[in-house]
Amino acid sequence: MSIVAKTFTPRNLQLITEQCLKKRYFSLASSANQRMSEIEQKFKLPKTYEGSQPSVWVEYIQLALDHKPLNLGQGFPDYPPPKYVTDALIEVASNRNLHQYTRGFGHPRLVQALAKLYSQLIGRTINPQKEILTTLGAYEALYAAITGHVDAGDEVIIIEPFFDCYEPMVRYARGVPRFIALKPKLTEGKRLSSGDFVLDKAELEGLFNKKTKAIILNTPNNPLGKVFTLEELTFIADLCKKHNVLCISDEVYEWLVYKPYQHIRIATLPGMWERTITIGSAGKTFSVTGWKLGWAYGPANLMFNLQMIHQNSVYTGNTPIQEATAIAFEKELTRLDSSECYFNSISTELEPKREFMGKFLQETGFKPIIPEGGYFMMADWTPLKSQVDLDSETDKYADYRFTKWMTKKVGLQGIPPSAFYGEEHKKLGENFVRYCFIKEDKNLQAAADILQKWKSGKN
Ligand SMILES: Cc1ncc(COP(=O)(O)O)c(C=O)c1O
Repeated sequence: MSIVAKTFTPRNLQLITEQCLKKRYFSLASSANQRMSEIEQKFKLPKTYEGSQPSVWVEYIQLALDHKPLNLGQGFPDYPPPKYVTDALIEVASNRNLHQYTRGFGHPRLVQALAKLYSQLIGRTINPQKEILTTLGAYEALYAAITGHVDAGDEVIIIEPFFDCYEPMVRYARGVPRFIALKPKLTEGKRLSSGDFVLDKAELEGLFNKKTKAIILNTPNNPLGKVFTLEELTFIADLCKKHNVLCISDEVYEWLVYKPYQHIRIATLPGMWERTITIGSAGKTFSVTGWKLGWAYGPANLMFNLQMIHQNSVYTGNTPIQEATAIAFEKELTRLDSSECYFNSISTELEPKREFMGKFLQETGFKPIIPEGGYFMMADWTPLKSQVDLDSETDKYADYRFTKWMTKKVGLQGIPPSAFYGEEHKKLGENFVRYCFIKEDKNLQAAADILQKWKSGKN
């Protein structure tokens, strides 16, 4: 006791206590750190998904929430869908028998309606049970088509600019994306159209080889709005046939085509039905993107592969949305050739919006690319470069810096198109911004006013 009393003076005791606490703290902290790093090591993304980053949508939705700009970035209407479509959902909601699981590969009433529609459009009888799969948005149909066909090392040709999920989906299947960019033809002085962006035929031909499993086509294209011509589709089809390649045709904007252009389904070209999976979306067809209902159709042997992926990941889609969509299709099936049919009236309704956007972008100093289809417009923003403080943002690509600066300082949001290119070709998208014009006239006018004010230096 006396030794303790002599050695451990109050000051010593304090120091020893502090040391012990520190030691204890550090040992607790270091074992906590070790545990954390063990957890991080063991539970990081599996190798197949390594390198995945939040997509442009995740980042830009947050940007819009943080800065509350006028949002012409994301592709959805800011006005209500057709009344008969929402009425169908109300009717379904009050039916007590439509709130339980439905058939996994597609709600019977919906696959019947889809078979009836596409049999007419494709010119062959489509089997609703074996040749159609309904999915959670076209997104899941793409996932099932890619995962259901692509093996490790298989090459998949992707035409740029492309809807951004194609690339990670191919990589998740351990496939190898091979990119080819649509490039503008020289059109001095003329207003650019999405049709001026073309494939280099020799370059495309050069990509096809023994390892090529599939090509992903998107017509009308997002973000460019290009509607592929019969000549272009025939060239692609001939290569698919020559090299025994699958065509995954994303046609979610099939009804959004402006006169005089025409949507051609590649599955209708000779010898293409047996090697094509065509994908559609209720979100785009009936302007109900929140319903997240899509479908794929094609020959039974190819569809079986998609059905297996769907069965073992999602199993079944939701019943009321599928029933309401079936009712909406049944209505349109009775008036397909009339101008009242929504499939015909939607592009008539959108055409003046497209014209208005082209005009106000041009007047502000952008160089818009007028789309032949879809509801997006890409525009070259670089003539306005001197009015933008690109250095205030840190992103690698200038279109990200431009769109972020515009969101924060000018209050108008667009999407950076370099997101729609593979890493090697991102530079091709850097000079552009993508705006969406399926918006109320008053909001398009507000966008025009914002840009006018910015141009005159008043904001
Ligand atoms: C080209 C393209 N494909 C697929 C999709 C996904 O459609 P959905 O919302 O039905 O999943 C979109 C959505 O914007 C798209 O633009």
